[in-house]
Amino acid sequence: MSSNPLDNKSQAWSALFSEPMSELVQRYTASVAFDQRLWRADVAGSLAHAEMLAAQSIVGADDLAAIQRGMAQITAEIEAGSFEWKLNLEDVHLNIEARLTQLVGDAGKRLHTGRSRNDQVATDVRLWLRDEIDAIGSLLVELQRALVTVAEKHADVILPGFTHLQVAQPVSFGHHLLAYVEMFARDAERFAQTRERTNRLPLGAAALAGTSYPLDRERVARTLGMVDSVGNPALCQNSLDAVSDRDFAIEFTSAAALCMVHFSRLSEELVLWMSQNFGFIDLADRFCTGSSIMPQKKNPDVPELARGKTGRVVGHLMGLITLMKGQPLAYNKDNQEDKEPLFDTVDTLKDTLRIFIEMVAGITVKPEAMERAALRGHATATDLADYLVKKGLPFRDAHEVVAHAVKLAIAQGATLSELPLATLQGFHPAISDDVYAVLTLQGSLNARGGIGGTAPAQVRAQVARHRARLG
Ligand code: ARG
Repeated sequence: MSSNPLDNKSQAWSALFSEPMSELVQRYTASVAFDQRLWRADVAGSLAHAEMLAAQSIVGADDLAAIQRGMAQITAEIEAGSFEWKLNLEDVHLNIEARLTQLVGDAGKRLHTGRSRNDQVATDVRLWLRDEIDAIGSLLVELQRALVTVAEKHADVILPGFTHLQVAQPVSFGHHLLAYVEMFARDAERFAQTRERTNRLPLGAAALAGTSYPLDRERVARTLGMVDSVGNPALCQNSLDAVSDRDFAIEFTSAAALCMVHFSRLSEELVLWMSQNFGFIDLADRFCTGSSIMPQKKNPDVPELARGKTGRVVGHLMGLITLMKGQPLAYNKDNQEDKEPLFDTVDTLKDTLRIFIEMVAGITVKPEAMERAALRGHATATDLADYLVKKGLPFRDAHEVVAHAVKLAIAQGATLSELPLATLQGFHPAISDDVYAVLTLQGSLNARGGIGGTAPAQVRAQVARHRARLG
């Protein structure tokens, strides 16, 4: 077996270099500590490339067989944890290639024909991210299902709806939860669209200009499942762009940041609702922690952390977008810095999804506390105004009449529905005893039965729509 030029890469890249890298520079430039998680994509990309090289008679069938054998062993070694990752081999790509050559000799050295690490790494990140997007998509479906189940169960539970965090109008608790289902459904749409632009093949771009070998890029794309919605191979069509842009990663992180923002809003509500001042819900103990000093405490740590981790993902988005902004075409080593923020975004989002799927399913709802709070805030004042409008008043006048009634109710410490008919008629003679039906919380909810409204019947219709959509 001939010598392996990658063996002493730390000494020098090639005959061109006359001094080795210092240990500090090696550590500074290496990415293997974190990019080794791309190994499966790297192996898959290399196998697809090698298979195409053989089909195009650029390498021999014996070379391909040797590469396949070597890669099978490398896969086994990595899975078993016995693969020796070397810092002096810089990244996942050189580590795997060096081991391949060690195992199969010259065939390993032929693998890099018509390829550069620049198109290799872009391909690996895209393949890896595509599969992660699929995993995230499945988790989003599960999360929506969990929310829909709780929403259906509590379609008739009445919650004070807030604007400005002041009691506004009563809403169905199920309706409130379905608002989050809408948000997470749009997140899923965004991820699906990002997937389409991620799942395109850079290989063949080589270092930046394309290659002089007669590669069959479409064949490689098909092998790797990089196809468009109608099954045609999806290729990056410009070599400079293929190796250098990371917009797909930025786009993904942007979708992830938005999804985390949705979690953060839900978290804020869970924290408020669980506080003694609201007392609307309880979270299962396993999602909370106690205090080291105050024995009475049960703190909603999980939603608080999700709210906090949102900042971290938003930070990754800023990091990635800033990473890109000053780069001239084509590849620059700056791009190696795309990995940690991207990986951490995926990890954080997946963990948050998994934990919320469980936490939402185990939520304890306290309908009496919610209803009491709704009654306290004169939440049916708008219903009284609408009632007067139906009796012929212009809305602005009705609004004014009701403001007076609410003022009196506040002064008497009563709800609107507790005011006697004679008192109400004092505010406007058009009021008669059918008014009490609209002043109840249930009446207020039931009146809002149009598409998107909070009536329990409408909530159930939406539950059915979501079920059909989610399968
Ligand atoms: N580790 C590098 C990265 O993550 C691989 C590409 C290196 N290419 C190069 N020309 N130095 O981007």
